[in-house]
Amino acid sequence: MGLNLPFLNGTFRRKRAQVIAIDLGNRTTKAVLLERRGETLALMRYALMDAPIFEKKISPDLLADHLHAVAEALGGTSKYVSMAVGLGDAVVRQIELPQIPLDEMRHVLKMNHKNYLQQDLPNHVFDCYIIPPRLQPAGNKTPEPARTGLTPTKFKVLAAAARQQLVNDFIQAAGTASLVADAMVPALIGPINAFENALPEVFARDTVALVDIGFKHTSVCVLDRGELATNRTINIGGDQITAGLAEAMNISYAEAEGIKVGMAPEVETGLQNQVLALGREIRASLDFFEHQQDRAVTEVYMSGGSTRSEMIVKMLHSEILADCKTWNATSFLQLALPGQQAVEIDLVGPQLTVAIGTALAAY
Ligand SMILES: Nc1ncnc2c1ncn2[C@@H]1O[C@H](COP(=O)(O)OP(=O)(O)OP(=O)(O)O)[C@@H](O)[C@H]1O
Ligand SMILES: [Mg+2]
Repeated sequence: MGLNLPFLNGTFRRKRAQVIAIDLGNRTTKAVLLERRGETLALMRYALMDAPIFEKKISPDLLADHLHAVAEALGGTSKYVSMAVGLGDAVVRQIELPQIPLDEMRHVLKMNHKNYLQQDLPNHVFDCYIIPPRLQPAGNKTPEPARTGLTPTKFKVLAAAARQQLVNDFIQAAGTASLVADAMVPALIGPINAFENALPEVFARDTVALVDIGFKHTSVCVLDRGELATNRTINIGGDQITAGLAEAMNISYAEAEGIKVGMAPEVETGLQNQVLALGREIRASLDFFEHQQDRAVTEVYMSGGSTRSEMIVKMLHSEILADCKTWNATSFLQLALPGQQAVEIDLVGPQLTVAIGTALAAY
């Protein structure tokens, strides 16, 4: 899904040879450098860095320093940068709109966002992405009425909104860092974009959930045969898992973090409370969809830093009771990474999903 916030006069639609995409997480900044090579894309480099500050809004100057540091870490070969807009900073929703040109759709959305997005969003920018109509299964020539349960005069559209100020700050910070701001993409869309490319058949055919476990939040998206059916944010992430472990073991947060990432087997019971609470919330999100649509979510595809731990994924599986797996968001990319990065990509991969999906939207 090529959803962007088109505030940059469509500059991102120019074909760049190389692009940088940055996922400014609450805990960790993840960035990738992709290069276009004919029909394929190559992953040239990635970077993981501590986020500049937690809990506080970042100033354009601080953001500029950070963007500069990220671009340097990626080798300084590209100045075109796209950024993921965090879960709290972007509104994303699937809606239906009349079949009108995209420009008009954005205008309609801007004028009627209270109706379509069900909240008042003053000083926001809006974007739309038209979801291509579902392909019919081979041999089935007539459209399924159940699937085309909307009048043919409507498009299914993914709508997004973000504060104008956020957009302005990003443009300003990129400029200060001698970079060019190409696009902003809702972080929620990152895993969806990457998934569509990594597992196109599953994306088009199945009903699955994409779960991204972050630092403070976890996002759950149910994808039903290529469409975003529901999305939800849960206020549990790696932070709470570490805090819970610290409490259970009566040790400091920093110690607990070290032990968690090291994954000594004895931490399992200490992790249980938080991880199972997260699992229950994810299960509840799936239940919500399943009851509403009378369709089962067959698989749960997980990404985010916490899914680097096999133990956590296993625990979630036992609570969610659907097949839970991590997946490789780099599988459709040509890997052109320097030595050590090439060795570590399998470990780091689950944490780069949003950054990779953001880069795809910018291409
Ligand atoms: N090997 C590991 N095992 C368990 N947890 C890990 C591991 N590596 C990283 N984490 C956890 O992942 C979390 C960071 O994940 P991630 O980078 O996806 O978050 P973020 O993107 O910064 O946050 P958000 O998405 O909420 O903005 C941290 O809480 C960290 O403890
Ligand atoms: Mg994140």
